[in-house]
Amino acid sequence: MDGIGPMLYEGKAKKIFAAGRSDQVVQYFKDDATAFNAEKRGTIVNKGVVNNKVSERLFKLLEERGVLTHFLERLSDREMLTKKVTIVPVEVVVRNVVAGSLAKRLGLQVGDAIEPAIVEFYYKNDALGDPLVNDDHLRLMNVATPAVLRELRELAHRVNTVLKPFFAERKMQLVDFKLEFGVYHNKLILADEISPDTCRLWDMATGESMDKDRFRKDMGKIEEAYQEVLKRVCG
Ligand code: TMP
Repeated sequence: MDGIGPMLYEGKAKKIFAAGRSDQVVQYFKDDATAFNAEKRGTIVNKGVVNNKVSERLFKLLEERGVLTHFLERLSDREMLTKKVTIVPVEVVVRNVVAGSLAKRLGLQVGDAIEPAIVEFYYKNDALGDPLVNDDHLRLMNVATPAVLRELRELAHRVNTVLKPFFAERKMQLVDFKLEFGVYHNKLILADEISPDTCRLWDMATGESMDKDRFRKDMGKIEEAYQEVLKRVCG
């Protein structure tokens, strides 16, 4: 791994390494998969390669549409050079269709359209299990100011406006997804990854899940689904 320095951080699905410049890092995408706050663990073969390439394609698309991201360059199958950001500890979830925790929490019908899309904030904290929070909670904890929360919500909607039709053109329904943002030179930019780990994607022809739900719910054909997403997004 030429030009790559020591490991700075290891997360559940990625490792972060120092890069040649102090304001850049290398994201290494692992095949490790976890669910339910890491209670369930496993491997999805070549997931790291898929998530790296899918994220590259989507970050480039978003940059073309004026959304600032941390993406700089894909270095290899599993490595991506990015700007080094300070992550805002908020998971920003956008929902176009009822599924997952929303269906469970509110008893809504899975598959019902959500129009216009909604945005939710989760406090990124493993010890607490990433609780759903509102603006007041985040302000109380000094995690984000009202102005930053307004910007996060606005950026999340903009990302959705770009990604929803992109996936639809490839016969995938973008049900929901999770974004993370970071601060880079005093600017809020999109960070982390956008992949079948962080999106719900339903095949428009069959309604079948093509994302990490196949792992979460032991639905089988997990690797096949990830490869199919790669093919449709990058092929
Ligand atoms: P949820 O319905 O379980 O709240 O998930 C909403 C979206 O966020 C879904 O597309 C999966 C994604 N997600 C993550 O990326 N990481 C997580 O830890 C969780 C719980 C969800």
